[in-house]
Amino acid sequence: MELLPEHHASHSSILTRPSMARNTIRCLFNFVSLASLVLAAPSSSDCTGTISSLDDVSAAVKCTTVNVNSFTVPAGETFDLSLATGTTVNMLGDVTFGNKTWAGPLFQISGDSITFNGNGHTFNGNGPFYWDGQGGNGGVTKPAPMIKIKISGAWTNVKVLNSPTRVYSVSNPAALTMSKLTIDNSLGDQPNSKSGGDAAGHNTDGFDCSTTNLVIEDSTIMNQDDCLAINKGSNITFQRNTCSGGHGISIYLNRPVFFPPRLSQGSISSDVTVSNIMITGNTIINNDQALRIKTDASSTGSSVSGITYSGNTATGMRQFGVLIDQSYPDTLGTPGTGVKLSGVNFVGSQNTISVNSDAQRVAVNCGSGSCTGTWDWSALEVSGGSAGTIVNFSGIENFSQ
Ligand SMILES: *[C@@H]1O[C@H](CO)[C@@H](O)[C@H](O)[C@H]1NC(C)=O
Ligand SMILES: *[C@@H]1O[C@H](CO)[C@@H](O)[C@H](O)[C@H]1NC(C)=O
Ligand SMILES: *[C@@H]1O[C@H](CO)[C@@H](O)[C@H](O)[C@H]1NC(C)=O
Repeated sequence: MELLPEHHASHSSILTRPSMARNTIRCLFNFVSLASLVLAAPSSSDCTGTISSLDDVSAAVKCTTVNVNSFTVPAGETFDLSLATGTTVNMLGDVTFGNKTWAGPLFQISGDSITFNGNGHTFNGNGPFYWDGQGGNGGVTKPAPMIKIKISGAWTNVKVLNSPTRVYSVSNPAALTMSKLTIDNSLGDQPNSKSGGDAAGHNTDGFDCSTTNLVIEDSTIMNQDDCLAINKGSNITFQRNTCSGGHGISIYLNRPVFFPPRLSQGSISSDVTVSNIMITGNTIINNDQALRIKTDASSTGSSVSGITYSGNTATGMRQFGVLIDQSYPDTLGTPGTGVKLSGVNFVGSQNTISVNSDAQRVAVNCGSGSCTGTWDWSALEVSGGSAGTIVNFSGIENFSQ
């Protein structure tokens, strides 16, 4: 790594002692402030660090500009960028991760007010090395998530190719916009020699979010699981994205986020809140369902409220158009009553969804008394398939099927 240019700031301080003559002190002060004006800027972090291997990382992150060249991260190690506030990172080449069955993550980034410019370059997870059709449910241990995002600021123009399982886990410390991203796990749609005829890629969630103040926009996600899964949090906007091949856009209470998926399935979680979510202008192609809210039947003390869907378009849904189900891990089983669901609205621009002939248009499965208020579904139009049922709730207005 190189440091360009090198600057050594002088941080002087003086201790005033009562015994010193007053004008000596003033004179000293004048000299010190003049000296710091001349010497203090730019600070020692105003340099450019260059990363061409993991060995370069610790020195490079002392700089507030970091360039990442093309290199391979050794198998079994995390490429971990813990950045100074205000750092700009520029990818100048593709980063590939070595092959090893281990827990990961493969890449992790933290810091405040960070600008990460992928410049269209790729993080290659070498998914085919791991894929066996089982994802996090079995088979070999797979690094998950592939990428942990713990920055505020901007993460943009990054491509992820072939993640072992889940791609992004997002827990930003303050407002973050993720934009112009590509996740291409489309190769995982094909079976391989280990997947017994199933799609080789599995549990390849695009974004798992337990966070607040997040925007994800103008991105393309090709995968085999949720395009977006919001596990808890508020003020999250998902707009103008294209989701292809997976399980749609989900609000998904109690999905284990920090452990291998499904090990704690069915465990009772409490006090999980999801609120103020905007799902706007997305295109969903050939997914199991377009828009889904699913909550664990055994959850307690939790709530989902203020979910707005506007201007989304979906074609080729394989199971449901819209699915709101409180019986997870079952589908349309006996619903729980521990999650209060309110303010789920389809408003603004029309949401246009078409489902395959053997799919259901809209299914709503609420626990007794746990879906509340009135929900305005005036901007929802679903066609194809059969109607589906609405259980235990009569508050949906301006919609019939
Ligand atoms: C890692 O796995 C990928 C995908 O199977 C393969 O293309 C690549 O050659 C492997 N890399 C090494 C160094 O073995
Ligand atoms: C909501 O999130 C956005 C984007 O991250 C942020 O700019 C905005 O300030 C947040 N709103 C509130 C009320 O915190
Ligand atoms: C709500 O749904 C459950 C499970 O389907 C059912 O047992 C219960 O009778 C329903 N309650 C009402 C009020 O319809």
